[in-house]
Amino acid sequence: MDSRCLLARVFLGVLLMHSCEAARKWDYEPMSLSSTTTDPSKILIKTKIDRIGRGEFAISATAMFNYTTTEETMVECLVYRSSSGAEADYKLLPWAIPRQTFHEHLNTYYKEVTMRVFKKCSNFPYFEGDFQPPFPKMNYVAEKCALGDDDRLPEICPPGFYKIVFKCFGKNQPSWSFTAVFRLKPKLF
Ligand SMILES: *[C@@H]1O[C@H](CO)[C@@H](O)[C@H](O)[C@H]1NC(C)=O
Repeated sequence: MDSRCLLARVFLGVLLMHSCEAARKWDYEPMSLSSTTTDPSKILIKTKIDRIGRGEFAISATAMFNYTTTEETMVECLVYRSSSGAEADYKLLPWAIPRQTFHEHLNTYYKEVTMRVFKKCSNFPYFEGDFQPPFPKMNYVAEKCALGDDDRLPEICPPGFYKIVFKCFGKNQPSWSFTAVFRLKPKLF
C-alpha cells in the first residue's frame, strides 16, 4: 500500500497515478509549510495554512516568479515519513520525483497531478498538450486549496508525519525549495 499512498501525490505530484475511487479512510492536517530562496528578487514563495472548519484545512500560497527557466533548470522532490513526528525519526521513502528538468517535470508530474489539483483554486499555468517554454514570469496565487478533496487519493494511508521537500535549482539561477509537513491519521467516523 505504501507506494500508492500520500497526500504528496496530489500536492506535488510525487507518485505515479494509480486511481483509487473509494472514500479515503484518513484525515490530514498540515503542520507546517516553509520555503527558501537564494534570491528573493527572482523567486519568493509565501505560504499559509487556513483552518476552514473542524478538522478541515486548506493551503494558500503566493509565488513571485521572476526569472527565466531553461533546460538547465532542474527539480527534485524527496518524501520522508516519521511515525512520531520527531525530527530524528524521519526516513526517506522511495517515492521521490527523481532529479529531472523543470520543463520535463511540467509535462509529467505537474501536468498529471499539480495542475489538476490546483486548477480551481489558483492561477497556476494550465495547458493542454506539451508545455511550451518559457514558464511565465508572474505572481502566482493559490487561494484556500483543499487538498484532501481529490478523488484519486488512496483509500488507505499509513498514519504518521510526512515531510515533502521540493527543490529547484540550475546553473546561474536561484535555488529555491518548498517544504511541507503533513500529519495523517485514521478518520474518525
Ligand atoms: C525582477 O527581476 C528584475 C531583474 O531581473 C528586477 O529588476 C526586478 O526588481 C525584479 N522584480 C521583483 C519584484 O523583485
